[in-house]
Amino acid sequence: MKLSEGDEVITVAAGFPTSIAPIVQNKLVPVFVDVELESYNIDAEQIEEAITKKTKAVFLAHTLGMPFDLDKILELAEKYRLWVIEDNCDALGAEYTLKREYNLIKGKKVSGRGKTGTFGHIGTSSFYPAHQITMGEGGAVYTSDIDLYRIAKSFRDWGRDCWCEPGCDNTCGKRFKQQLGKLPFGYDHKYTYSHIGYNLKITDMQAAIGVAQMDKVSAFTEKRLENWKRLQKGLKDLKNLFILPKYPQNSIPSPFGFALTVRDNAKFTREDITSFLEKNNIQTRTVFAGNMLRQPAFADAKIKLRIGNSSLLISKNLTDEQYSRLPNTEIIMNRTFWVGVYPGMTEEMVDFMMSKLYSAADARG
Ligand SMILES: Cc1ncc(COP(=O)(O)O)c(C=O)c1O
Repeated sequence: MKLSEGDEVITVAAGFPTSIAPIVQNKLVPVFVDVELESYNIDAEQIEEAITKKTKAVFLAHTLGMPFDLDKILELAEKYRLWVIEDNCDALGAEYTLKREYNLIKGKKVSGRGKTGTFGHIGTSSFYPAHQITMGEGGAVYTSDIDLYRIAKSFRDWGRDCWCEPGCDNTCGKRFKQQLGKLPFGYDHKYTYSHIGYNLKITDMQAAIGVAQMDKVSAFTEKRLENWKRLQKGLKDLKNLFILPKYPQNSIPSPFGFALTVRDNAKFTREDITSFLEKNNIQTRTVFAGNMLRQPAFADAKIKLRIGNSSLLISKNLTDEQYSRLPNTEIIMNRTFWVGVYPGMTEEMVDFMMSKLYSAADARG
């Protein structure tokens, strides 16, 4: 079940590099599927045609805290025996209710209501300051599978095979009693490496902050959702000029931000609006990379990839015709931006943001 060079992983180009870079770094092939406007998540209806015999995993983020279509994705993961990795970095605290039970590989069964990040085999969180909770920097990986837990821990701890906590010895009872790799029998398990890993450990100080922040997750995410709903309601009169965001009915999002896409009939550009907002002290962001395939990291390099059901392509040689196979991703790159819903914002601050959005759009017709 281990992925090998050339195996394919379904993902999207409209997002953050974290759900793409590890695919490339591990010599796997990213397969890009277009996204929906409104939710900014993968268009789940387009996934099946992108699946081949080489497809082994789906690696996706719940964009800006709006859960993606977990039912459809788990149904495909069950049918095609795929690993599911949820990048939950923007969505800590979000919930989703599944329509039925799904039996995934490695005996994982999921059903009913749960937190995003717990439906797939592995979930990830970021505790960068902008996120729902923070430790200053750093993040977490979560899984309910003991083998995956040990593998993740090994990658975190330089690739070591031993899983003893600091200060502990011989938890497995075989510290000097086994032969691994081509090492001599009995080689100290503490210094046995089964992966090419990293040092990704957080400090105790960060962990202490993280533990204290955990107590605040619900209050923070409720306030974020309240701010998000206030924007959704208050901006509805701009719906002819902007596409306003939506989330699946069987979910409770944990919004990271509130996204708007300038409609093609509007007489202004995204930059007209974002520069006006920025001049008024309102920060704006794009949906991260916009279209990752147009970023220098891809456009200037020879990375193997596929787009939908295409054959193998090389990132540097992509043509406009190939980019146009991800039409909504292109729209997001050109016309989408988002504003914050930080829990420290008061109603007055949210209303100020709205009034400036109305003025920006009014002034430009
Ligand atoms: C979806 C997503 N994943 C991952 C990250 C990055 O997390 P970190 O900076 O902790 O690596 C971000 C950052 O904003 C993100 O939006």
